[in-house]
Amino acid sequence: MAVTNIVVVGAGVVGLTTALVLSRHDNFNVTVVAKHMPGDYDIEYASPWAGANSMPVGKPGSNLQKFETATWKELDRICREVPEAGLHCQETFIYGRKKDENTATGDWFKELVKEDAWFRDLMPNFRVLPRSELPPYCTTGTAFTSVCINPAIHLPWLAGQCLKNGVTIIRGTLTHISQAPSFHTTGHAAVTLNCTGLLARTLGGVLDTTVYPGRGQTVLVRNTPGAMLTVSGTDDGAGEVTYIMQRAAGGGTVLGGCMQPDNWDSQPDPNLALRIMQRAVELCPALVPKTGKVTELSVIRHGVGLRPMRKGGIRVEKERIGGAWVVHNYGHAGYGYQSGFGSAWEAEKLVLGIVKDKAKL
Ligand SMILES: Cc1cc2nc3c(=O)[nH]c(=O)nc-3n(C[C@H](O)[C@H](O)[C@H](O)COP(=O)(O)OP(=O)(O)OC[C@H]3O[C@@H](n4cnc5c(N)ncnc54)[C@H](O)[C@@H]3O)c2cc1C
Ligand SMILES: *[C@@H]1O[C@H](CO)[C@@H](O)[C@H](O)[C@H]1NC(C)=O
Ligand SMILES: *[C@@H]1O[C@H](CO)[C@@H](O)[C@H](O)[C@H]1NC(C)=O
Repeated sequence: MAVTNIVVVGAGVVGLTTALVLSRHDNFNVTVVAKHMPGDYDIEYASPWAGANSMPVGKPGSNLQKFETATWKELDRICREVPEAGLHCQETFIYGRKKDENTATGDWFKELVKEDAWFRDLMPNFRVLPRSELPPYCTTGTAFTSVCINPAIHLPWLAGQCLKNGVTIIRGTLTHISQAPSFHTTGHAAVTLNCTGLLARTLGGVLDTTVYPGRGQTVLVRNTPGAMLTVSGTDDGAGEVTYIMQRAAGGGTVLGGCMQPDNWDSQPDPNLALRIMQRAVELCPALVPKTGKVTELSVIRHGVGLRPMRKGGIRVEKERIGGAWVVHNYGHAGYGYQSGFGSAWEAEKLVLGIVKDKAKL
């Protein structure tokens, strides 16, 4: 059996999921190379900062919708069957405000806040909330069951599954995509997967300037509300939203947040942090059952992550660069976890097509 050597560049949720999917083929020999690895906390590495949950936002007919649908089925299965993957089920409440309909955050959550959402038959226990169950300033609301992923467990779990399947994982920084094959254990590779997230913008040979940061600031707390809640916007400023996600297995509760395009600032803004905490306790008094006050929040850490945004959405495409095949899989913005498996399977199809064409020659 002919073996195909493959290098995956990137060890975020997208790179590791892609490597895992490819490693299930006995005739593929996969090496993952990355500047940042599970366990690192760095502004250049988005994955550890995510909530992370699955709240579908893809427009009907889009690739994203397809990837989210495929990924949900896998996350739901993993949640039920694989406790060591760091997922748990959470009741999820989505609240929409009329005044956010035409704002940036309103557009981001456009599909999410619909009461006749396309995912009403996909997400378990979907129901439209009666007005009496909405915060007074909201006009729409739905509830369903989703998962919340603890990245501190899930990313190492993905890496561990890769290692179990014979994948080699090495630390390395590329300045040009053409260097990728030399990082393979054998010194050469037929296919490179580009899972470089936001840094795709600066990688030589790719230089995709449609990629830009969508800054997200969070506060991770020890308090445990036992549910996930999201509101489509706030009155505190453009680009600010409210969300609360309790991570699996003692991972703490993520309070968010914001979506600030083209903002590269790695430092938490203390005023924004205070607004995030204030809004969270107002939306969800169960966070602070004793006093109802912000001071009852027990902070683990403040966080800033840059979502790898891309005009035109996720790029899953094959391209010949300098005589070698590159399969791109980047630009997952605020949905890398909820679309990861779907887009990895799409990348896998492209790799299989390349290998098949090579065999014909
Ligand atoms: C605050 C916040 C909340 C979020 N919440 C959610 C959520 O609830 N649900 C959800 O689905 N998504 C969420 N996201 C989005 C999610 O985090 C991203 O979509 C996802 O992490 C992107 O993964 P990635 O693997 O593409 O990129 P990254 O995690 O950034 O990984 C990129 C990898 O590529 C490597 N790399 C890049 N360039 C090079 C190079 N030149 N040489 C070597 N290695 C290189 C890096 O070292 C790294 O390993 C959130 C994001 C933020 C910031
Ligand atoms: C991949 O290739 C390397 C180098 O030849 C070899 O040591 C390793 O066992 C191979 N791994 C798999 C999974 O085939
Ligand atoms: C990945 O794609 C991005 C965006 O096109 C590009 O800038 C980067 O150079 C690519 N990286 C690799 C390793 O191909």
